[in-house]
Amino acid sequence: MAHTVGGCSLALIFIIMLLLVKAKIDVCKRGDVTVQPSHVISLGSAVNISCSLKPKQGCLPSSSFNKLILYKFDRRIYVQHGHSLSSQVKGLPLGTTLFVCKLACSSSDEIRICGAEISVGVVPEQPRNLSCIQKGERGTVICTWHRGRDTHLYTAYTLQLNGPKNLTWQKQCNDHYCDHLDLGINLTPESLESSYTVKVTAINSLGSASSFPFSFTLLDIVRPLPPWDIRIKFVNASVDRCTLLWRDEGLVLLNRLRYRPINSRSWNMVNVTNAKGRHDLLDLKPFTEYEFQISSKLHLYKGSWSDWSESLRTQTPEEEPIGMLNVWYMRQHIDYNRQQISLFWKNLSLSEARGKILHYQVTLQKVAGGEITLQNITEHTSWTWVIPRTGNWAAAVSAANSKGSSLPTRINITDLCGAELLAPQQVLAKSEGMDKLMVTWTPPEKATAAVQEYVVEWRELHPGAGMQPPLGWLWSPPYRLSALISENIKPYICYEIRVHALAGDQGGCNSTRGNSQHKAPLSGPHINAISEEKGSVLISWDEIPAREQMGCILHYRIYWKERDSNSQPQLCEIPYRISPNSHPIDSLQPRVTYVLWMTALTAAGESPQGNEREFCLQGKANWSTFVAPSICMAVIMVGVLSMRCFRQKKRHSWPWIGS
Ligand SMILES: *[C@@H]1O[C@H](CO)[C@@H](O)[C@H](O)[C@H]1NC(C)=O
Ligand SMILES: *[C@@H]1O[C@H](CO)[C@@H](O)[C@H](O)[C@H]1NC(C)=O
Ligand SMILES: *[C@@H]1O[C@H](CO)[C@@H](O)[C@H](O)[C@H]1NC(C)=O
Ligand SMILES: *[C@@H]1O[C@H](CO)[C@@H](O)[C@H](O)[C@H]1NC(C)=O
Ligand SMILES: *[C@@H]1O[C@H](CO)[C@@H](O)[C@H](O)[C@H]1NC(C)=O
Ligand SMILES: *[C@@H]1O[C@H](CO)[C@@H](O)[C@H](O)[C@H]1NC(C)=O
Ligand SMILES: *[C@@H]1O[C@H](CO)[C@@H](O)[C@H](O)[C@H]1NC(C)=O
Ligand SMILES: *[C@@H]1O[C@H](CO)[C@@H](O)[C@H](O)[C@H]1NC(C)=O
Ligand SMILES: *[C@@H]1O[C@H](CO)[C@@H](O)[C@H](O)[C@H]1NC(C)=O
Repeated sequence: MAHTVGGCSLALIFIIMLLLVKAKIDVCKRGDVTVQPSHVISLGSAVNISCSLKPKQGCLPSSSFNKLILYKFDRRIYVQHGHSLSSQVKGLPLGTTLFVCKLACSSSDEIRICGAEISVGVVPEQPRNLSCIQKGERGTVICTWHRGRDTHLYTAYTLQLNGPKNLTWQKQCNDHYCDHLDLGINLTPESLESSYTVKVTAINSLGSASSFPFSFTLLDIVRPLPPWDIRIKFVNASVDRCTLLWRDEGLVLLNRLRYRPINSRSWNMVNVTNAKGRHDLLDLKPFTEYEFQISSKLHLYKGSWSDWSESLRTQTPEEEPIGMLNVWYMRQHIDYNRQQISLFWKNLSLSEARGKILHYQVTLQKVAGGEITLQNITEHTSWTWVIPRTGNWAAAVSAANSKGSSLPTRINITDLCGAELLAPQQVLAKSEGMDKLMVTWTPPEKATAAVQEYVVEWRELHPGAGMQPPLGWLWSPPYRLSALISENIKPYICYEIRVHALAGDQGGCNSTRGNSQHKAPLSGPHINAISEEKGSVLISWDEIPAREQMGCILHYRIYWKERDSNSQPQLCEIPYRISPNSHPIDSLQPRVTYVLWMTALTAAGESPQGNEREFCLQGKANWSTFVAPSICMAVIMVGVLSMRCFRQKKRHSWPWIGS
């Protein structure tokens, strides 16, 4: 780039000079401008500029005017009557100043006679920090230096190299801005010990200066070419024995290696001496993409390191997995004889998997009462079997990559909720932001000391149709009675959260529901049927679609009022339960047509109302009509929100979901 610019400006200067010479020929017919002592002066010195008319080139004799005027650029600096003019000029700035002499024969007309350019500059400074390198054993010697301050004048630099046996090389630099030169010669390794001396001299019209001589041997200045042809070899396709191979120039004695996993920022560095193009690396991690680079040097102290080679990128081979899978299971009764076992496990971390996990091996074994072993492999992270309900079963799961398998995780299948004494108490879930829930519990009252471990398990309560929602779980030591859960937790979704306490082959559990964020449901329950049963009315409804629930539903409300009446509706509030989706009302009068509808409430509020249904009770008025107010309170005046339904004479109880 610098070369091109230099070339360009040289060409420009040349063209300007040509124009000036031509202009002088054209313009200086009438007279001359002379400059004393020189057109090039050093900063601070004075020049005398003289302008004289050639004979018979002045104004007509009739003109009494005949004035000579000296311009510095466009500014008059001196005026003189007569045929010649002389002026001393001082204090010119660095660079080129143009002076022009003109003749005036009247007040309005000026004729150009001639001009001159005066260049002001300084003597070159002594070039400093002269140094040379030769790139590679076959490269040429290139020297660089600092020129010091700008001379503002054309300054030529000459580089001279003196070698053994009175050999001398010399080269001049023609660039406009010259601070380096390629001598174009190659110092060969035969003369490793020979001493060379180089010197650079700057010359311009005002003077010259030479650098201090710089003496060196070949080893001092050779910068080897970076290593090439880099490869890596894994002995027996194992990361434990791997060798980095490369090629170097013949004289190279030292290498430095650097390598890192490509997603890492810091390098591992190794210095090696006399490696002859190979080095064993023992600390690489398996199944990791690495980047390797090498640089070279000829001598322990002398010379400089080569540039880093191009990167070699390669993935190290796999090794068999270490670590064990985190396994959990669910057990469901299907009928009197059979149960369904679902096993779940989590991916190994990258550093445990040490390769691409190809499949998982799952084993389910009946350990007592007749040996049965079921085995299968899967690429998924869950597996389900239907097995007999008799006997004790144990499961084992391991992960396999191309090199081998992890140690199997063994787990005994027990009745996770079988021991009521072990059931944790006061299981609560509290939102911790958009996608986290804090679950807390207290230990089972009578068996606190027996608990060996807790497992917190969660899944969506109402997954979309046909979806098996992912199961989340985590293990907690017996002294920790809370857990922050975040895996697969989304806002506005209701989760069923279960806490299991495990003690040997027994387990107890308790559960709750929770959401990380809630809103009022987007729609109300849809009443799908109203039927008459023994004089009371049974309302049945469809669950609100999962996506419109917007959190955990806490209550339903059933509203009714007489058709065509302007009275306030009556209502009955019932706590949420998974099923059945029906509820009796006892307070409707026979042979009166009512309009009924429902809403649902989350902690954020009440949904819009669902569909309206009309209903007229046909049966005879029975005794319950008269005690109706005590059965399902109608509520307007007492305040809607605090009311519940009381069912004193009925035996239904509505447990919270299936704990
Ligand atoms: C310039 O002119 C002055 C008188 O006009 C003279 O004294 C001086 O020596 C001259 N300088 C040069 C450099 O010619
Ligand atoms: C030039 O070398 C001198 C010492 O010789 C050093 O102090 C200075 O920083 C160097 N200048 C540059 C620009 O490298
Ligand atoms: C080198 O040059 C010097 C004088 O310039 C001379 O005395 C000497 O003999 C020469 N050496 C060789 C090796 O030519
Ligand atoms: C490579 O494997 C072969 C056979 O499996 C074994 O004989 C040889 O010793 C192994 N080499 C190294 C360096 O481990
Ligand atoms: C390698 O050598 C350089 C000097 O050449 C030294 O600064 C560095 O600490 C060395 N690195 C190792 C890892 O030995
Ligand atoms: C487990 O790994 C598989 C592929 O290795 C990936 O598709 C899946 O998303 C991972 N699951 C989790 C929960 O990280
Ligand atoms: C193993 O899995 C395959 C494919 O899912 C299934 O066809 C096979 O019946 C399974 N074997 C056992 C023993 O469950
Ligand atoms: C599973 O039960 C057997 C006895 O039936 C016991 O020896 C073993 O330690 C149990 N394993 C685990 C992981 O609890
Ligand atoms: C679950 O916990 C509640 C108290 O939070 C308790 O009343 C209930 O009995 C527990 N369930 C079982 C099965 O122990």
